[in-house]
Amino acid sequence: MSARIIDGKAIAADLRARVAEAVRKLQEDGGPTPGLATVLVGDNPASETYLRMKRKKSAEVGIESFAHELPADSSQEEVEALVEQLNADSRVHGILVQLPLPDGLDEEAVLSKVQLEKDVDGFHPINIGRLAQKGRDPAFVPATPMGIITLLKHAGADLDGANAVVVGRSNIVGMPVALLLIRENSTVTVCHSHTRDLPGVCRTADVLVVAIGRAEMVRRDWIKPGAYVIDVGINQVDDSSRKRGYRLVGDVAFDEAVEVARAITPVPGGVGPMTIATLLQNTLTAAERAR
Ligand code: GUN
Repeated sequence: MSARIIDGKAIAADLRARVAEAVRKLQEDGGPTPGLATVLVGDNPASETYLRMKRKKSAEVGIESFAHELPADSSQEEVEALVEQLNADSRVHGILVQLPLPDGLDEEAVLSKVQLEKDVDGFHPINIGRLAQKGRDPAFVPATPMGIITLLKHAGADLDGANAVVVGRSNIVGMPVALLLIRENSTVTVCHSHTRDLPGVCRTADVLVVAIGRAEMVRRDWIKPGAYVIDVGINQVDDSSRKRGYRLVGDVAFDEAVEVARAITPVPGGVGPMTIATLLQNTLTAAERAR
């Protein structure tokens, strides 16, 4: 059996087209041009690449970007003052503070300053807290976890009652995706570096979400036949046959997993494009609410 490939690129393109159409409609009806402010502190090259992609895709759907860059040695007060300035700017409907922040800055204090209505990344402690509680709804849900749920539903996964295993407990992916899966009525296990018999736990998963940042760690015999596998990893491995000297691989050994799983996301072209499309959707929602 060979798994169905979950085409994140195509699903994201479809979502972006719907966002672009809704942006046009909002403006036709006299609404605002949605605006997304990005804040980058320091010069982490991976963060710069992500933000460039986010701004490019924003422009394609008619969302205006406001890019702010601060030096790595900025003080806590300077970063928080910028967030306050963006809170007060009516052209800005969404604020994204790119993580990680340089050492020495208090990430929670910065994220706490983002106005809840503009927290399109969903990382404000109140929004995360609401995500973790029954009967409460956050203003926004973090983009990568939300994109993962969209991909699973698109692939036809029945999340209600499924055994879902999440490998990784980061604030950005592992923890919020576990909370979202609980909201979908899955039975969720979260694994991490202290988990005993990680392969054995993964083998119980009807739905396996892997976000650990270790190249091709999840092997064929970790995967239950017929499972839905979401690979969040993006790792560079040396490859002298490529012009740039490396290739990108996920946290799952794709060629092995594809023979066992029912459906699987590729790397690249799986989760990555969905993260950006979901962020754009959140920014549109913020602008619609601000109206
Ligand atoms: N760093 C890695 N992923 C993300 C993300 O989705 N949002 C922000 N703000 N920072 C990140």
